[in-house]
Amino acid sequence: MERILERFGLAMTGCGAAAPTRSVSNEEVSLFVETSDEWIATRTGIRNRCLASPEDSLAQLGATAALQALEMAGLAPEEVDLILLATSTPDDLFGTAGVIQAAIGAPQAVAFDLTAACSGFVFGLVTAAQYIRTGTFKNVVLIGGDLLSRWVNWDDRRTCVLFGDGAGAVVLQASDVDSLLGFQLRSDGTQNSCLNLKVKLESHEISEDLTIAHGSFSPITMNGQEVYKFAVRKVPEIIEKALFHAQLTTEDIDWIVMHQANQRILDSVADRLKVPNDKVVSNLATYGNTSAASIPLALNEAVRDGRIKPGETMVLAGFGAGLTWGSAIVKWK
Ligand code: UT7
Repeated sequence: MERILERFGLAMTGCGAAAPTRSVSNEEVSLFVETSDEWIATRTGIRNRCLASPEDSLAQLGATAALQALEMAGLAPEEVDLILLATSTPDDLFGTAGVIQAAIGAPQAVAFDLTAACSGFVFGLVTAAQYIRTGTFKNVVLIGGDLLSRWVNWDDRRTCVLFGDGAGAVVLQASDVDSLLGFQLRSDGTQNSCLNLKVKLESHEISEDLTIAHGSFSPITMNGQEVYKFAVRKVPEIIEKALFHAQLTTEDIDWIVMHQANQRILDSVADRLKVPNDKVVSNLATYGNTSAASIPLALNEAVRDGRIKPGETMVLAGFGAGLTWGSAIVKWK
């Protein structure tokens, strides 16, 4: 018997977000590390960040964001087939997506984590699309979340002022019309040392002829200038490639929702693409750099305040450790 392969499109039908309640201003940060509101704001655009308390968890923020997104999509948790959590800071190295599955009550869903640092949300979107397009899954919850405050050295002013915590989610559903118009993903492991959150090993002699290593993690290290140069060069390029793939031009873009690392990077990307700055969503001032959460946090904010409207075309772009970078052209709803 002939097997007919069906292909499906996907639609982004809901979004949600959650951040820890404790907001910390630049002034407050400057009380415990040698910096200033002026330095942080002019170099990065960041003014505040939300920091997780010991009681907060990635699972709890991710579950809140996921439930909001499901509600907007009008989908019950029981109908979810896949939960994909893009994160570099799981509550458990074995994965946190399963804990979110239990928390939201989605027993049919396969749940797993995906790690691609600040590109995680875009990489997760493209991964989810493959399952939907092949007809494997119909209803996917994609979450991007990170609690980087737990992994920075709070004595290192070069990194600790930059990061904040949060989670954002979208619902992706099989649809007759495909809203993912194009994408491009890239990795360059030769530049891996630019940005790391590395395993730290301590030798441990179990017996006379057996020595193993105990693992923990060293705080984040970043060559800020190298990552900056990489971002302003590679992000416009990958957006142009994704647009070409979608047979679109920058004229067709309604919104750019990019990884929120630095306002100067957002401005430079808009400049290079000749896209007006008011089409670039920015919420750095409130949240800082929230890694895999930053794109869905910004997207959720702009959808809920009415800026991003159904049928509009968004360019999503992520970049960061790996090094990784990627872009996806998606219609909202
Ligand atoms: O999400 C992952 C992707 N990450 C990124 O995209 C980050 C990309 N990089 C950046 O956004 C910028 O490189 C930073 C915001 C991290 C740094 O800005 P910069 O303009 O590249 O500063 P810099 O590293 O060149 O440092 C300039 C000066 C240095 O002092 P000297 O050597 O010139 O005397 C630093 O020691 O600023 C000093 N500095 C600070 N001063 C006050 C560094 N951090 C601070 C600070 N407060 N927090």
